[in-house]
Amino acid sequence: MGGDAFGFVMRQDRLSFPEAVRQLARSAGIALPEARGGGDGGQREELLRVMALAARFYADQLWGPAGARARDYLETRGVDAEVARRFGLGYAPEGWETLRGFMRTEDVAEEALVAAGLAVPREHRSGAYDRFRGRLLFTIRDLQGRPVAFGGRAFGDEQPKYLNSPETPLYTKGNLLYGADLAREAIQAKNRALLVEGYVDCLMAHQHGFGETVAALGTAFTPAQLGLLRRYCDAAVLFFDADAAGQKAAERAEELLEPGDGGLAWAVNRTGTLGSSGVLRLRVALLPAGHDPDTFLRAEGAAAFEERITAARSLLAFALERAIADPDGATGPRARAGAFARAALMLAKVGDAEEAAALSREAAVKLGVDATQLWIEAQRLQSSLRRPPAPTGGARPTSTPPSVERDLAHLLLHAAEARAVLLPLLVEAEDLGHPALRAIVAALRARPDAPAESLMTDLETEEARGVLAALLVEERQDLDVRVSIEQFRRRLERGVRLRRARGLSQGIAAAQAAGTDASVAEALRVLHEESAVLYGITGGTAQSLEHRTGESTRSGDA
Ligand code: UTP
Ligand code: MN
Repeated sequence: MGGDAFGFVMRQDRLSFPEAVRQLARSAGIALPEARGGGDGGQREELLRVMALAARFYADQLWGPAGARARDYLETRGVDAEVARRFGLGYAPEGWETLRGFMRTEDVAEEALVAAGLAVPREHRSGAYDRFRGRLLFTIRDLQGRPVAFGGRAFGDEQPKYLNSPETPLYTKGNLLYGADLAREAIQAKNRALLVEGYVDCLMAHQHGFGETVAALGTAFTPAQLGLLRRYCDAAVLFFDADAAGQKAAERAEELLEPGDGGLAWAVNRTGTLGSSGVLRLRVALLPAGHDPDTFLRAEGAAAFEERITAARSLLAFALERAIADPDGATGPRARAGAFARAALMLAKVGDAEEAAALSREAAVKLGVDATQLWIEAQRLQSSLRRPPAPTGGARPTSTPPSVERDLAHLLLHAAEARAVLLPLLVEAEDLGHPALRAIVAALRARPDAPAESLMTDLETEEARGVLAALLVEERQDLDVRVSIEQFRRRLERGVRLRRARGLSQGIAAAQAAGTDASVAEALRVLHEESAVLYGITGGTAQSLEHRTGESTRSGDA
């Protein structure tokens, strides 16, 4: 730690490193950002304790004498005991005050049970009764594996089929994914996530070796959930039953392409920061009509399931299909021109250039045109659609950096081997959207061997110092550092490729504007070669490209 201020404070006051940072931050008047989750720490702690107790109680019920019926049910559904234990399944016995009785012995107040969503206040008199009665319980846990909510399945046809915890200070619908605590490592290692709808689907997938599976918890997936996945992998696979697939997937995809804050656009469509190279690709696996992942796995097994995953198509391809189809079912040259235009426009909205290139190839085959031609048209439309970039200076100075970028900065600060691999690939202005993180990385670049904490004095703005302090004190159970480095290496390299592609298409546009046939032809030739390398979008052969170049030169003359 050397002779810097931190070492001094730590030795002097015998503080741990995080404590020393907090103390120095305080004496320097730097406001440390709240730990993630923030808010009323005391109440959260108490609710977490109550939920942990409840989860233990319900699990004990499941595996104890009272749980015979629930265990039978698990057996009929083919759930292994080992998987049930790993997921922390439980059984809520019949009776109105079973949990309350247990909680009394643990000194848990009734208000805390109500606040945790475990008990419901009675309507016309005082007191509260257990929310979950006579149900199999699925424990919803946060990323650290702490129980925050339950979903309770009826054993028969009672309604509702699943009774869920209400929202509480611990649990916001759409913020978590079921099974994420167990799946995180596999998601990162396999660089993909399987996103299913139901609890049982998720359990069954894990049981069949698909440890990278999470469930969306009854809601359509949300930006928060996609953001969570994006931190750990580059692709997520959704499952649709063949009946509903085309329609549902196209609707989903069109939502993703809608601009605006409320939309999901940023998840697939942001450009300019790590967000674009760390984009989450969504793919759709089709299951036979009437099947969900649970029933399919039980009927057909893991190998057949993997085949479905391998055959999964880009979610955006469904939107493209819809764009190409003529609304009136017309054919002929005019209909084809319309389809070309709609496809190019749709492709222009896809911010992920690699994905756009792959889709161009697919569309080109369907439209019977050259892929390069379609791709260039989409790129041209994209530049005209692109809004002027938001001013970086005045924009929300206290905004929190996106979590993917934080993860990257955290890794660089805490792992020296990450710096050697990642710093050469990283372009602050492109890969990092947040000014504080840019400043921190720039400081790190200037002194790559410096201990992270000593960078504090290199930073000029209070905001940057605050963010650094927060990153230094943030305690994480980090996954394998080597896996994390590999993940970011992949993402940053993709950023490097995307920037090259952007340069090339700008070259084309400039050449076209300049109007010299020779330079257009030359730029197209280079693009064609490069695109083959970059994206494998050799839609036509080099010959057909030359042919087209000749064509466009002629029409340029006319
Ligand atoms: P499904 O109705 O598709 O059921 O709900 P499922 O998961 O296949 O359930 P099983 O196989 O019959 O047990 C999908 C998910 O939607 C949520 C649950 O998370 C469920 O797993 N859901 C469903 C509810 O929250 N409440 C309900 O009443 C029904
Ligand atoms: Mn099911």
